[in-house]
Amino acid sequence: MDRLRRSKYCGDVGKEDLGNPITLMGWVQRKRDLGNLVFLSLRDRTGICQVVCSSDTYPEVHATARTIKPEYCVAIKGNVELRPEKMRNPRMKTGDIEVYAQRIDILSKSCTPPFVVEDGVEVSDAMRLRYRYLDLRRPEVQANIILRHKAAMAARRFLDENGFIEVETPVLTRSTPEGARDYLVPSRVSPGHFYALPQSPQLFKQLLMVAGFDRYYQIVRCFRDEDLRADRQPEFTQIDMETSFLDMDDILDLSEGLISSIFKETIGLELSRPFKRLEYKDAIDLYGIDKPDTRFGMLLHDVSDSVKDSEFKIFSSTVNKGGVVKAINVKAPHGLSRKDIDLLGDFVKNYGAKGIVWARLTKDGWQSPIARFLKEKERWSIENSLDFDEGDLLIFVAGNHDVVNASLGNLRVHIAERLSLATKGTYNPLWIVRFPLLEWSEEEKRLLARHHPFTSPVEEDIPMLETEPLAVRARSYDLVINGFEVGGGSIRIHSRDLQQKMFSVLGISEEEGMRKFGFLLEALDYGAPPHGGIAFGLDRLVMLLAGASSLRDVIAFPKTQKAVCPLTGAPAEVEDKQIAELGIKVIKKEG
Ligand code: AMO
Repeated sequence: MDRLRRSKYCGDVGKEDLGNPITLMGWVQRKRDLGNLVFLSLRDRTGICQVVCSSDTYPEVHATARTIKPEYCVAIKGNVELRPEKMRNPRMKTGDIEVYAQRIDILSKSCTPPFVVEDGVEVSDAMRLRYRYLDLRRPEVQANIILRHKAAMAARRFLDENGFIEVETPVLTRSTPEGARDYLVPSRVSPGHFYALPQSPQLFKQLLMVAGFDRYYQIVRCFRDEDLRADRQPEFTQIDMETSFLDMDDILDLSEGLISSIFKETIGLELSRPFKRLEYKDAIDLYGIDKPDTRFGMLLHDVSDSVKDSEFKIFSSTVNKGGVVKAINVKAPHGLSRKDIDLLGDFVKNYGAKGIVWARLTKDGWQSPIARFLKEKERWSIENSLDFDEGDLLIFVAGNHDVVNASLGNLRVHIAERLSLATKGTYNPLWIVRFPLLEWSEEEKRLLARHHPFTSPVEEDIPMLETEPLAVRARSYDLVINGFEVGGGSIRIHSRDLQQKMFSVLGISEEEGMRKFGFLLEALDYGAPPHGGIAFGLDRLVMLLAGASSLRDVIAFPKTQKAVCPLTGAPAEVEDKQIAELGIKVIKKEG
């Protein structure tokens, strides 16, 4: 018999095919055997179509259908008919029709799958990743991967139309300083030497600007060996861009164009532009963290002035020692019990705070462990600045600025999640600009670049590089959407002298600077144009677009929390011979 050739995708069959013969190919999601009628739900990447096999009309086809099990891969030829009125399913794209099978070819049998390949089925993450090729057959998982494709296509289209050229950069390279640990690859040809997988193409894109490419982009894989979280994978994808001769406003404008096109072309949402901007300093003051979710209020208020003379010694002494007391107002009705409030106290300990102080406003006045220590004037001033109304709950944290901001900033997000304060399907893009150029590392006892060492300081702050380095602001910017850092970039240093000075502020000697980044310093000597750029995390963007809660849901073959791939078993041991060839000795750690 002739091989069947597909004429339609399952999800595309509709009333326009009525009475016509069609051929579908796909996987059997379900079989319902009603004796003389066998119903099959046939699935491909476009959707599901119902197939009917009748013993009256095609007994051989019916007999074959009875042998079919879930996940068999089959080809079906048949006629499209309208379903009986009662049997129509308005929730299904193809719910009005069904295909009466005239021929079924089993293309490939399937073992019983370890889980039912359907949306909404409870199955552990470990199992899903171990059999990812089956998990990826599930419509909702497949939809995320298709959404990702659309996002990448929208990005490519926008960037191409705006004069950006895609250039590939090496994967086997030298360490790139983005602040995480490198993945190293030993060289067989040069024993004892290692490539590093790029944490980003940062230096190459700058070299492309020196080379005159003017506008570069790349949808590129980056590798960072860091502690993993729901929004962090060891390998992830950036939409990476760099431009010459543009200033920050131009780059933010182009970026907004890019992000808006992606939203429009994937989920049909028109983002309003220009996106809001907040200086880093204000973000910390108001939200406590540098990636604020602005879909809800509960802003941080500094009440140090109101409590500096308070009889509640923890507050007054904190302020007198140069610390700060801040509070948030959880508006009624919040439904938080005393036990819940105690748990909030435990939560802030993760951020270095000793605990929280709470206050509730009832019709009889303040209810709080500190009520009796506060004078009326102090209470009144707090009530006013925090808009404290009956039923509301105030939460105070006292301590040094960093601890208070981190504690309350993260607590704010935690409470909002618990109380579902953010409306689903709303997207609040926000630029955070002018980060500090440097930060102090307690661990390394030296200054580190907050973004990376090639970020340009704000011009007027350059003189402070030597005198007050922590006060120097950077010409840098992050794009935050709904509390996730979706992108980050900066205007770069394009003068060798300033770059060298930056290295020296970072404690990188001239010799070390030359050894690690000599190629960049040299390039800056050959007519480097002023340049700057940004990189967006494609995985994070798609996670937001898909309304998913983990990057794993939008990556075809992701890694686990331990950076393991349960499907392939990577990372794996290798042959002794391979190790010997690389001139490497493996020392096994105990435990
Ligand atoms: P940055 O380090 O801010 O900048 O990275 C840019 C964006 O990449 C995403 N991202 C990640 N996504 C998933 N898993 C990770 N482990 C991970 N790490 C980062 C984030 C982040 O905003 N070279 C600079 C860009 C530049 O200056 O132009 C850079 O890589 O969404």
